Amino acid sequence: MSLEIINLYSNYGLKTILKNINLKINKGELLAIIGPNGAGKTTFLKCILGVKSYKGRIIYDGMDLSKISEREKAKIISYLPQFTPIIFPITIFENVILGRLPYFWTIPKKEDIEFVNKILEDLNLIEYSNRYIDEVSGGERQRANIARIIAQNSKIMLFDEPTANLDLKYQLEIMELIRKITKERNTITIIAIHEVNLAFKYADRIVLLNNGEIICNGSPNEVISMINKIYEVNGEIIDFNGRPRIIY
Ligand SMILES: Nc1ncnc2c1ncn2[C@@H]1O[C@H](COP(=O)(O)OP(=O)(O)OP(=O)(O)O)[C@@H](O)[C@H]1O
Ligand SMILES: [Mg+2]
Repeated sequence: MSLEIINLYSNYGLKTILKNINLKINKGELLAIIGPNGAGKTTFLKCILGVKSYKGRIIYDGMDLSKISEREKAKIISYLPQFTPIIFPITIFENVILGRLPYFWTIPKKEDIEFVNKILEDLNLIEYSNRYIDEVSGGERQRANIARIIAQNSKIMLFDEPTANLDLKYQLEIMELIRKITKERNTITIIAIHEVNLAFKYADRIVLLNNGEIICNGSPNEVISMINKIYEVNGEIIDFNGRPRIIY
């Protein structure tokens, strides 16, 4: 089973943002989308989520995602936005239990609460459970938002810049956790990410986008040679335990 994106185009006004994207992502696969600012990474994730209009088809498990009800879709897809506005202050616990909304109607079940507490423990957030989300650091808030996605327990997980605002230790821990969940739950996981070395370290496959087009789609070793050209930098490529890195 897989997620298939077929002949995808998307515009903002008269400007074509995504051009002829064709991609297949398998269960249990961690795919990183990289590319310069404005390449179309966020737009691509929003098309999959169904909040951005597009031409083409997005098929999951034989179903056209645009034809599924919102409540059903919430069990299939979870999404960490690049920017999460705080509309009203809620606690970290409440923020994470929101991820369970597709599974209960008014009051969370005992299993939902246990599930959420386990995730809060995994992310070292238990001691922050009752703190308000607008009264913690940027990294703590980011971890609380990632915890909400993990609580949603969906088949497809979309993360837009999950490592933004995280210190070095948490960048690595969050990437480890996302990878572990992808393998254990056999999810289709897509991450848009600026830290290319994290993509090279953790992703199974990398798609390099530029000006809304796929420039490269392959293993870290297949994609790394294009980095200097597309990002207009002059880094040195090295091998680190069989996976490439770029040093600036
Ligand atoms: N709401 C919008 N209205 C009009 N144009 C938009 C809108 N959102 C994004 N764009 C444009 O679409 C293009 C792709 O934006 P997108 O946010 O998908 O890029 P990105 O690859 O995620 O960039 P970044 O690395 O900066 O997050 C950019 O040229 C951007 O200016
Ligand atoms: Mg973006």
